[in-house]
Amino acid sequence: MNIDLTGKNALVCGSTAGIGKAIALQLAENGATVTLVARNEEKLKETLIELAHEQGQKHNYFVADFSNPAEVKEKVKIAAERKTWHILINNTGGPKGGPIFSAAPEEFIKAFSQHLECNQIMVQAVVPGMKESDYGRIINIISTSVKQPIDGLGVSNTIRGAVASWSKTMANELGQYGITVNNVLPGFTATDRLADIIKNASKRFDGSEEKATAFMKSVVPARRFAQPGEIANAVAFLASEAASYINGVNLPVDGGRTKSL
Ligand SMILES: NC(=O)c1ccc[n+]([C@@H]2O[C@H](COP(=O)([O-])OP(=O)(O)OC[C@H]3O[C@@H](n4cnc5c(N)ncnc54)[C@H](OP(=O)(O)O)[C@@H]3O)[C@@H](O)[C@H]2O)c1
Repeated sequence: MNIDLTGKNALVCGSTAGIGKAIALQLAENGATVTLVARNEEKLKETLIELAHEQGQKHNYFVADFSNPAEVKEKVKIAAERKTWHILINNTGGPKGGPIFSAAPEEFIKAFSQHLECNQIMVQAVVPGMKESDYGRIINIISTSVKQPIDGLGVSNTIRGAVASWSKTMANELGQYGITVNNVLPGFTATDRLADIIKNASKRFDGSEEKATAFMKSVVPARRFAQPGEIANAVAFLASEAASYINGVNLPVDGGRTKSL
């Protein structure tokens, strides 16, 4: 099985922390040349140094804020003038948690823009290069809420469904060019985002984060949270030649938590 990514360029969004950073590290480990994207330039520089470069890769980064799609469009356009990418990882910070009833209506628009509009901008920027290379892997980091909505993540549940439908439609259109479009659905993964989710969930457990954590682990057949690297392993496989005939799927990487088939 060939999961070597030598000679492939990967654009990894939201890659200075958590799942995105683990993906960037893993793809570089597999030989890819990585372009990092996030808001915080200091963290981008720090992450850049951590990327493996044994295959002579010259990694780079650009700063972009996904809450500002016009900025994202401009930044990726400039970057695309110097580089084509074979792999795109669409990933960014998750929407704010909380009951759906109390969400301000504008929160849905904000999340839609950050998650769907920016994904579309990224895809439009990378696909011409992927078509020329006869190789494209677009992988969207979404959530298991695509299959089973998660209590307390109302805005997120709503927007994730839209992103999954967008992605499946894109897979149908781009498959003929050797481009696959797949979604990875992480379960509870030990990142800063999860720490926020636990804090939020503790409200339902008399303010106890310990009790919230214990409950969350109890609903996972594996009885533990994922490490970001475990999500990255699945992404590296989907990004590789070995996954050439996998297109349009939602892959939960959740220790078995999602109850649907
Ligand atoms: N962790 C989990 O348990 C879990 C489970 C299911 C789904 N997910 C989803 O997976 C995705 C990644 O989660 P994570 O846990 O890895 O999050 P995280 O640890 O908070 O990391 C988020 C990354 O995205 C970047 N980012 C955040 N907001 C951004 C913005 N507006 N523009 C550009 N970059 C931005 C951050 O860097 P900067 O701050 O420098 O911009 C950081 O690199 C999210 O959509 C999350 O909802 C996570």
